[in-house]
Parts: sequence; C-alpha cells; structure tokens
Amino acid sequence: MDFLSLFVVYVVVVLACIVLVCKYSGQQKTPFSFLFNSVGKVVAPFTPKCLQKLSQWTLHRLFHQRNNTFIYLHILLEAAVYAEFTYEVFGFCREMDTTLTSLSVPYVLLAIKTFFFYLCIKRDPGTVTKKKITGQLSVYPYDRRLFHPGVSCETCQLIKPARSKHCRVCNRCVQRFDHHCVWVNNCIGAQNTRYFLLYLFSVCAMAGDIAVLTGDMLFHAVLRSGLLRASYVDEYGQQQPAGPLFVVQHLFLTFPRIVFMLGFLVFVFFLLAGYALFHSYLALVNQTANEWYKSRGYVCQHCHPTATSDRLCSPVPDHSKRYYYGRGLLRNLEEIFFPTQPVRKKDN
Ligand SMILES: *[C@@H]1O[C@H](CO)[C@@H](O)[C@H](O)[C@H]1NC(C)=O
Ligand SMILES: [Zn+2]
Ligand SMILES: [Zn+2]
Repeated sequence: MDFLSLFVVYVVVVLACIVLVCKYSGQQKTPFSFLFNSVGKVVAPFTPKCLQKLSQWTLHRLFHQRNNTFIYLHILLEAAVYAEFTYEVFGFCREMDTTLTSLSVPYVLLAIKTFFFYLCIKRDPGTVTKKKITGQLSVYPYDRRLFHPGVSCETCQLIKPARSKHCRVCNRCVQRFDHHCVWVNNCIGAQNTRYFLLYLFSVCAMAGDIAVLTGDMLFHAVLRSGLLRASYVDEYGQQQPAGPLFVVQHLFLTFPRIVFMLGFLVFVFFLLAGYALFHSYLALVNQTANEWYKSRGYVCQHCHPTATSDRLCSPVPDHSKRYYYGRGLLRNLEEIFFPTQPVRKKDN
C-alpha cells in the first residue's frame, strides 16, 4: 500500500474509533453523539429510505442486541498491532540490542490481558434470578434516593434489588449494575467489575509498553541515520540544519506502518488510561457508573424507558450534592474484588 492510502485508512480507523467510543462508552450525551445525530439529520433527506433503514438496523444490531462484533474488532486490532510489532519492531529492536526480556514483556501482558478479557466475557455479571433473588435482595439496603424498595422489573417480573438495573441489551436485571460493555459483549456488574478493572489496566499496560518500545526504536533509528546533524541547501544557497520536520518526514517515509501503529497506541493508551482512572475512582468511592450518572441528574433512555433521549431529567431532588456510601477505600475495594455471593447454589 502506498503512503497516501495507508494514511487515509489510518485516519478513518482512528476517527471511527473516537466516534464509537465517545458515542457509546457511557451511553450519555457527548459532543460526538450530538455531532453524530446532527450529521445524521442533515444527510437524511439526501439518502434513500432503504439506506437509512439499513443503517438504523445496523446500529440497532450493533448496540442494542448482544453480538460479538466488537470482540472480533478488538481481536483484529490487537492482531494487527502484534503482527506489526513482531515482524518489524522486534527485529529492529534486536539489532539495537534491546534485551529479549524487555521485548517479551508485551507478550506476557497479552497473555494476562487475554485472561481477564475472557473472564469479563464469560463470567456472569450477577444476573438477578428467581432462585437467587432472596440472597440478592439482602446484599444492599435500599437508599430510598436512587433505589426504592418494592419496585419490580416489568420484563423480568422480579423485585429489583438495590443497585441493580435491567440491561436492555442482555434483557436481564443485573446486580450492582455498572454498565453494558460492547467490547466484551457483557454487562459489568457485581461479579465481574474486578475483571473489568484488571482488564482495563492490562490493556493500558500493553499499549503503553509497546508504544515505549516502538518510540525507543524510532528514536534510535533517527540517531543512527545521522539526520540530526544533517543539513540541506535552501533556495538561497544557504546551508540549513535539518529540523524536526525533516526527521518526522523521514520517519513517516521510512517506517510508515510503525509510525501509524505508534500513533494509534498513544491514542488508545490515553483514552483507556482516562477510562481506567474513572473506573478506579468509582471503585474507590463505592459507586457504579450507573449511580454516578444517576446522581448527577442525567438519566438516559436505558434507565428510564419513558424518558425521551434528548431530555435530561433528574430523579434526584438534590443532585448538586454527591453521596458516597463508602466505609473507607480499602473496604470499597474489598467489595469489588471479593463481592458477596448471594447464594452458593448454581442457577438452572
Ligand atoms: C457501598 O454502598 C452501599 C450502598 O449503595 C452500601 O450498602 C455498602 O455497605 C457500601 N459498601 C462499602 C464497602 O462501604
Ligand atoms: Zn429486568
Ligand atoms: Zn448487558
């Protein structure tokens, strides 16, 4: 592939990722979702009905029904990064005397991440079932602020335990519901928040580590090329030192795929690090993402089927005040990592 088409593919993929992540990570209104909707409204009159139907159907299938698309996308992106790392960066690093130990760290991290990723996908997040409901009801008291006693889920026909929520995508009520994550095609709830946190941290470590190794390799490549000491003759016949722009151009032309990969990794790293910090904060203050949104007075259609998606409504009389129930940071973490098992018995 030539430089330009690679560049276009890269920009499209990165932009698509930004839009998807921003639109659907927290299920809340973001500038991107606003942009997304506005663009949709503007182009709607010019696109044929069947195309609109198709895109609506696709979006519905992708985000409102359980499906493995994002798991495959995740694996695909990961495979691309690791292939690039193994076939290009690895060899260069070996030439530059990077030790095998530090070069094997990304593979170790990959194994760890895959383990937690698998657990996130496979573990039951804490589905509220008829058999377990008695135990599940007793885990948390109702706070009568966000969760009120005696409310039952119309779909599941079961009383909603405190801190639980019905997931529209999975069509079940989940104990200590956090959010539905499309990347693992599962809800994040009482029994798998710990794996989700560890998964986030391991992906960050993976992206960060490969980015550092790659950056180091490019840095050494620049040093070796002698570009920093090179100079050129400008249009007036003057000797000019080759500036940083020259170096960047050189890198882009010599290692296009590696530079693209590095850009992608840096982007993923900062995005996920922010997300991981947010979720660590929530874990430390004994809140779920669901409660966080609720107590800020934002309610999406998912939580309130009757709310129109464009309206911000506040179910909380006083949402300027933040409520925490924590009994100390360690206790809060303990609750995440050793969640109360309502009933030992397996359902079904
Ligand atoms: C976390 O908050 C809930 C109420 O939402 C409370 O019942 C529980 O005891 C708290 N856990 C800890 C460890 O403080
Ligand atoms: Zn339900
Ligand atoms: Zn779900």
